[in-house]
Amino acid sequence: MSETGKKVILSGSTVTGDLTLGNYIGAINNWKKLQEDYNCHYFIADLHALTVAQDPLALRERCFSFFAQYLALGLDPNKNTIFVQSQMPEHAELAWILTCLTPMGNLNRMTQFKEKSANTKNINAGLFTYPVLMAADILLYQADMVPVGDDQRQHMELCRDIVVWFENRYGEGHLKMPDAFIGKSGARIMALQDPTKKMSKSDENDKNFVSIIDSPKKILKKIKSAQTDSDTVVTYDPEKKAGLANLLTIYSVLGEKSVEDICKDYEGKMYGHLKADLADLVVETLKPVQENYTDLMKNKDHLEDLMALGASKARVRASQTLKMVYEITGLIPRRS
Ligand code: TRP
Repeated sequence: MSETGKKVILSGSTVTGDLTLGNYIGAINNWKKLQEDYNCHYFIADLHALTVAQDPLALRERCFSFFAQYLALGLDPNKNTIFVQSQMPEHAELAWILTCLTPMGNLNRMTQFKEKSANTKNINAGLFTYPVLMAADILLYQADMVPVGDDQRQHMELCRDIVVWFENRYGEGHLKMPDAFIGKSGARIMALQDPTKKMSKSDENDKNFVSIIDSPKKILKKIKSAQTDSDTVVTYDPEKKAGLANLLTIYSVLGEKSVEDICKDYEGKMYGHLKADLADLVVETLKPVQENYTDLMKNKDHLEDLMALGASKARVRASQTLKMVYEITGLIPRRS
């Protein structure tokens, strides 16, 4: 619970890929409501991004771009706390303390580490301790809820274990384990070429998602080539016609029309018509977001001001937690 009496939500996102149409739909469904009812903290996990080799200029540009994309989607920097992880040194500080409590064996069992390290020759220690930094991100804000994807479940479990190891050494009641996930509310948007999996910004096949900053031409191309079945009648059948059902869901959310009505509109028409109209709708919907984004990216100074605002808001909780941890672990808290 925070000063305002509101529950604290925390979520981070690594800087890979651009935000997608799925994020757009999630944002309009969830963020606007969440920012009223919760004390929301969102951050850009640029320190986590360093666990794979990054070109320095590209990394910095991506951070600006990502930050601007969140704002362009309508996340209000005054109602939420939006910040860049590396601008909050408390994350790395707490991560170190937690690293000293975490057995190597547990980190060795992380499936994401196993997968990532199998694909690279240079396995750096950051890739190994990645989940500890993630636990620090969460525990630093004494968060109540952490919305994460299914692929992060094991990392969340490790976070819970870390709280227990911490309690075993220093006593109970210091670090709060976030105990709730936010359920998937609203529409679930699937990959365009493979409607059995979620649309993801880090998909290696770029035809699987529409990014919120894709050009109109690209959007048309991606939607036209979206996988559908060989039937021709436009009906909503998520099991047998999953690809088409996904397109209808997107159409329904963006066009604010029921799926049944859309199906009626396309009676006697081909999938191609629907795809062309949907592409237009997506282009139109994203137009103001893209204009917003372009404006924001023109003024990096302003973006840096907003990053500083986010960091100063984030510091309220982060510095409190870190001070408490310094005290109970025997470190001498620095004077502020
Ligand atoms: N590991 C998360 C991902 O890849 C990103 C992340 C880093 C995160 N720190 C976090 C998510 C803390 C939630 C809370 O998606």
